[in-house]
Amino acid sequence: VVTTALVVAVDGPSGSGKSSVSRATAASLGLAFLDTGAMYRAVTWAVLEAGVDLSDAAAVAAHVRTVALVVGTDPQAPTVATVVDGAEVDLTDAVRTPRVTANVSAVAAVPAVRQDLVLRQRALIEAACLAPGPGREPGVVAEGRDITTVVAPDADVRVLLTAEESVRLARRARQDLGTADTEALEATRRGVVERDRLDARTTAFTTAADGVVTVDSTTLDFDGTVAAVLEVVGRRVRAG
Ligand code: DC
Repeated sequence: VVTTALVVAVDGPSGSGKSSVSRATAASLGLAFLDTGAMYRAVTWAVLEAGVDLSDAAAVAAHVRTVALVVGTDPQAPTVATVVDGAEVDLTDAVRTPRVTANVSAVAAVPAVRQDLVLRQRALIEAACLAPGPGREPGVVAEGRDITTVVAPDADVRVLLTAEESVRLARRARQDLGTADTEALEATRRGVVERDRLDARTTAFTTAADGVVTVDSTTLDFDGTVAAVLEVVGRRVRAG
């Protein structure tokens, strides 16, 4: 029996729904799910924990190289952990704290950090293709900012998930603060717009590269967005 693995790459800005949509897409296709942002967040946690000077790019990259990452790719319960003194330390919640969120763009902007993590991400994608977990199909839905362009430019399916800024801000406010009232929107705007601005200097995630299909979720709900991504996957797979 010849089984071919399926690699789906999804990029997009903050609040595009990239993460939850990619998870649901992976679950629906029986594939692994790789959240590359969680990896940038985890090494940022480690750099902060170690007290490394964030303005010293060489020191940041040197420390990141020593950080062991253990990434769980089950779309039902994705996890990220590190290893400290031989013991696994779960970071799944710790990587979502405002302190990590406020500093991750600076760490992700260091070219040597990116080179390091891109290699680890490719290894995780390969592992999901060659040795899928129990009950899983070979392959992965990997999401981030540079998956369609740098990490997996030869992926079977490449999607850029976008949405108008006002819609992205409202979604993020609801997700983080449980409401999208004026105050919540303003708090969200300060964080999201600034982080997208910083991230845009590092990765080109707002325009689709050649061969990348744009899915605009501005007028779609969650299920509609997942359906649209699955439709792109189906179309690409049928086209061989
Ligand atoms: O998707 P997220 O918010 O969890 O990503 C966290 C940060 O990591 C974000 O500020 C941009 C960066 N990132 C990146 O530079 N490249 C990726 N492939 C994924 C995330």
